[in-house]
Amino acid sequence: STPSLIDRFDRRIDYVRLSVTDRCDFRCVYCMAEDMTFLPRNQILTLEQLFDVGKAFVDLGVKKIRLTGGEPLVRNNVLSLVERLGALNGLRELHLTSNGAQLDKFAAPLKAAGLTGINISIDSLRADRFRQLTRTGDLNKVLRGIDAAIDAGFSRIKLNAVILKGRNDDEVLDLVDFARDKGVDISFIEEMPLGLIDEHSRALSFCSSDELRQIIETRYPLSNSHESTGGPSDYYRMVDSPIRVGFISPHSHNFCHLCNRVRVTVEGRLLLCLGNEHSVDLKEVLDQHPGDGERLQQTIRSAMAIKPERHYFELNDDEPQIVRFMNMTGG
Ligand code: GTP
Ligand code: 5AD
Ligand code: SF4
Repeated sequence: STPSLIDRFDRRIDYVRLSVTDRCDFRCVYCMAEDMTFLPRNQILTLEQLFDVGKAFVDLGVKKIRLTGGEPLVRNNVLSLVERLGALNGLRELHLTSNGAQLDKFAAPLKAAGLTGINISIDSLRADRFRQLTRTGDLNKVLRGIDAAIDAGFSRIKLNAVILKGRNDDEVLDLVDFARDKGVDISFIEEMPLGLIDEHSRALSFCSSDELRQIIETRYPLSNSHESTGGPSDYYRMVDSPIRVGFISPHSHNFCHLCNRVRVTVEGRLLLCLGNEHSVDLKEVLDQHPGDGERLQQTIRSAMAIKPERHYFELNDDEPQIVRFMNMTGG
């Protein structure tokens, strides 16, 4: 029988988010401080090690891998990793979450390498605001990237928008219309308190998914689709469009009982929950016992015993419970 990873709360873990770099060409205000320092090369997993981690999880019954970052496309030779992971027997979905800035160049090669889906962040459709929210991003590049992803024919494309009160909450309907026009899914995300940022108050920027859903329903009645990708996103359908509208509501609707995922940072830390520090060091195993897939699998299996029941995010601007920034975590 196929092995499977089950935690103490009877949740089946069949999804891994693998961060391939902490670096990014954007500096989104909710993700990073303006003056970030990034990890030195000797502290990060090699592509070979990232592949070994992915393979160990697939051997343990994982069906879906999502490559995250930072921005995964700034990692050298990420295509070769996609190709190798994509060829693993037993893996059903290989996805990537991107800021979209380089997708005009990468979308087609990623598809050819075996990637099956892409999530792309887009928080505003106004160039000036987009720049403010990402600090360095160019909206037009991202728009070209989205089109390239659509042209490449991925089986799943989803847009992500983190909504901040007073910054982009007036663009919710425009973003839904944009997603409808493009024929792709879209998720609205409540900001999570990872890392100490001083650019804005997370408490004052909070915008609940219920508010957003009400705004959307003024134009488009929504019905809960009860189709979940396991975990955060709660998806809704419209009567006159095939796209799904998702809400990721860490503050207002806890989804942890449905959690189907763990994540691995590019430092090789197996993080059992985004909102807790419980982790196991896989880099040590990879460095000390290269090629020992059995040992790696055993380490991963044992780690299930410390997967926390849930996160306890609070909107306290003075003291983030989680000091690690989102770019270190891959979301
Ligand atoms: P799929 O379920 O694979 O379709 O994607 P996703 O929406 O979960 O992943 P994506 O990379 O697009 O991330 C969207 C948002 O969900 C980001 O803000 C992530 O931080 C958040 N997210 C993903 N997984 C978790 C989780 O386990 N817990 C919490 N609190 N947030 C998560
Ligand atoms: N809270 C919620 N979402 C975040 N993202 C980055 N930082 C945060 C945060 N603090 C989102 C990005 C991207 C996804 C991977 O995570 O916008 O869409
Ligand atoms: Fe980069 Fe994504 Fe973080 Fe923005 S949210 S700075 S695009 S890693």
